[in-house]
Amino acid sequence: MHSSTRAIHSRDLLQVTDLSATEILGLFALAADLKQDYAAFAGTLAQKSLVLLFEKPSLRTRVTFDLGFQKLGGAVAFLDHQGSPIGERETVEDYAGNLSRWADAIAIRCRSHAMLERFARASSVPIINALSDLHHPCQALADLFTLTESGVAPERIHLAWVGDGNNVCNSLIETVATLGGQMTVVTPPQYRPPAAILRSAEGRAFRSGARIVCTDDLGAVAGAHGIYTDVWVSMGEEARAAEKRTALEPFRVDAALMSRAGAQAKFMHCLPARRGEEVTDEVIDSRASIVLDQAENRMHLQNALLVALLRPDIAQSARAKSSLQGSR
Ligand code: CP
Ligand code: NVA
Repeated sequence: MHSSTRAIHSRDLLQVTDLSATEILGLFALAADLKQDYAAFAGTLAQKSLVLLFEKPSLRTRVTFDLGFQKLGGAVAFLDHQGSPIGERETVEDYAGNLSRWADAIAIRCRSHAMLERFARASSVPIINALSDLHHPCQALADLFTLTESGVAPERIHLAWVGDGNNVCNSLIETVATLGGQMTVVTPPQYRPPAAILRSAEGRAFRSGARIVCTDDLGAVAGAHGIYTDVWVSMGEEARAAEKRTALEPFRVDAALMSRAGAQAKFMHCLPARRGEEVTDEVIDSRASIVLDQAENRMHLQNALLVALLRPDIAQSARAKSSLQGSR
């Protein structure tokens, strides 16, 4: 059987385009297996170690990597770089070289995606992007996995993004472009995702059959399976806060916008949310909201990734079992 998860052994995940559609679907299947029965994977990452390097604050990403890795028997070291950027005390290359001698994988949350790429070039162990200014791949993969749990086939998902075309939006575009669904990005023209991300997504979409639409028309959310928003001012953008808040005011997700989407639409947010700003309390607390499912699934999806990277033998046999069950 073709091994979709073994193929990512010893590779980095800096952005979603580092993965093929087959590999992403393999991660979804393994995440579902893990979520269903952690006991079956007990000790899978025993003797393995993960280092977390964070230049920015985090709740979900830090806790899901830390507790998730420990759940599978591994050890985690957290290095807080909020006060001192990576590369300040010693070069990025020296830092990566040292850590590669102790850790089996390194997850990094950073200000600059260019620094992350430099770090990955100098590291001999897999580097996982735990959020950069340009991408948040673990978030987007967990989110699409969450939508599939509601019964929609990955290649049929229609996701509508409303608000600021930011790092989370970029990674969702790349995921949908790879899997073959539709992504409707509703932003003011000046906050559209970067042209380079859209161009590369178009290339992937051509192969997968996906459709990526950018518009400022809020009516374009009609029929979407998920309405997704995020904070209007991302970490590191504080200087642009006033300008962005003014421009994004019409793009708040409220009950009227959810009605325009339709009764099938789930509300999605990576969190943390600024309640009352990009989303109303009424929507985020509604029955349509799946934000806590998204948060939970961060752990299962990241664990699937870590098992695929560090224990390809286990990933392979779990995948084989789950596809046999699926074909019954
Ligand atoms: N969604 C997310 O990445 O949350 P944290 O910033 O709390 O890690
Ligand atoms: N776009 C947000 C996501 C936080 C998880 C940020 O970068 O701050």
